[in-house]
Amino acid sequence: MLISTNRSPLDQVPAEALIVPTFEGDKEKRFGAADLAEAGEIAGKPLEITLLHHPAGLAARRVLLAGGGPAAKYDAAMARKLAGAAARFLKSKSLRNLAFALDPAHNNPDYARAVVEGAILADFDPARYQTGDTQKPIETFTVVPATPFAGFEEAVDRGRIVAEAQNFARQLVNEPANRLVPLGIADSARQMSREFGLECEVLERPQMKDLGMNALLGVAQGSDEPPVLIVIRYRPAAGARDVHLGLVGKGVTFDTGGISIKPAEGMEKMKYDMAGGASMIGAMQAIAQLKPSIPVTAFIPCVENMPGSRAQRPGDIVAAMSGKTIEVINTDAEGRLILADALVYARRQGCTHLVDAATLTGAIVVALGHLHAGLFSNDNAMRDRVLTSSKAEGERMWPMPLDDDYKDYLKSAFADLANVGGRWGGAVTAAYFLKEFAEETPWVHLDIAGTAWLDDEKPHMAKGPTGLPVRTLVRLATDWK
Ligand code: BES
Ligand code: MN
Ligand code: ZN
Repeated sequence: MLISTNRSPLDQVPAEALIVPTFEGDKEKRFGAADLAEAGEIAGKPLEITLLHHPAGLAARRVLLAGGGPAAKYDAAMARKLAGAAARFLKSKSLRNLAFALDPAHNNPDYARAVVEGAILADFDPARYQTGDTQKPIETFTVVPATPFAGFEEAVDRGRIVAEAQNFARQLVNEPANRLVPLGIADSARQMSREFGLECEVLERPQMKDLGMNALLGVAQGSDEPPVLIVIRYRPAAGARDVHLGLVGKGVTFDTGGISIKPAEGMEKMKYDMAGGASMIGAMQAIAQLKPSIPVTAFIPCVENMPGSRAQRPGDIVAAMSGKTIEVINTDAEGRLILADALVYARRQGCTHLVDAATLTGAIVVALGHLHAGLFSNDNAMRDRVLTSSKAEGERMWPMPLDDDYKDYLKSAFADLANVGGRWGGAVTAAYFLKEFAEETPWVHLDIAGTAWLDDEKPHMAKGPTGLPVRTLVRLATDWK
């Protein structure tokens, strides 16, 4: 999709459809909205959509009135949704040259950015393997300011960079496990790094053995697919050297559960168990272009969790890279095992601050549903940084507890730690397990099991991968002071 800007007066902007936000209780209705409002046919309700043909006096061939709800509640997150819902509607009508008119009351960089993101995210097509008559992508999306303002073009550009990165992550997540194995993720990461000028290194089994990454290797040994640890480095030309942000993402290309095998029902969804890793690769693509002042390195441990004849068994004890020993009570708690070694490796590589994202537990879905990711941290300042970024980006996260008393849940009679903590508080004990490997490094863990995948399509988003938390991660890096 080609993103552009147009500072011409609105009536001169050409488009197959011009999207115009309308609000509840709006006095001043534009472009034929007055008659419709009087007839009670539009009210400006959230995501209400009305398409008008041949709008009088406009170069655009159609106007799409898109409800923004009450103007006072119309924030950037709502603008993103509105643009997305409008774009998906128009795309379904085979209209592919669209423009968006920022309204006078919300005419600033935040909204310009958000509507671009909404349109690009709306254009994502999760059905790439359907043959036959499929929907063509949107060709152009032009943002028109109510009146020109400083930073307009930059904001539009930033929106494009971030949303394209988010779609890149979504595309990786959406690939089925037969088409995207760990080595395939490594190829994608290498290709992206080459294109955007990042350094990419891929550790393979022999190096992992030398480094003592036995927790990761234990998970990998049940599959014929070789594991990889992908490392992607961004270094600023100049700037802070005392801070080094590490982004660690779970990359399980398929999670059968291993010997502690999962039930068949719904198992097909476990192709998205690499969503955390994909979000880190996506974030790095945007970071490469937006160039924050701090170094950022992503670490993505990738494995397939299979019950092959060499698979690890319940009761096996592995020594993780840090030296801690782990009793593998349940081979389905594999994410924490691969992340344990990746977190320790990230710290040895000099990372001073860490964020991990992982589809780690079903328990976080029980706790928070599909609206908030669970946020766990060992450091209040780091937690607040991530929460601030998440709020600004409309990617909801909720702080969860991580008191030391949870340590008891992970007791093992035979090793330093068990990899599961029993029936209760599953998301917390999983996070606590990771904390044992983050140790004293300021760290945030995001459990995205409930938020990385949308089970039912929304007006503004297709069913499937959401691309969370790419935007939060990018802002965390670019806003770092
Ligand atoms: N990948 C799953 C978590 C998951 C569940 C993600 C549902 C998305 C949707 C993870 O590896 C897992 O299997 N976790 C277990 C942990 C348990 C064995 C302690 C779980 O949540 O059941
Ligand atoms: Mn599992
Ligand atoms: Zn998993």
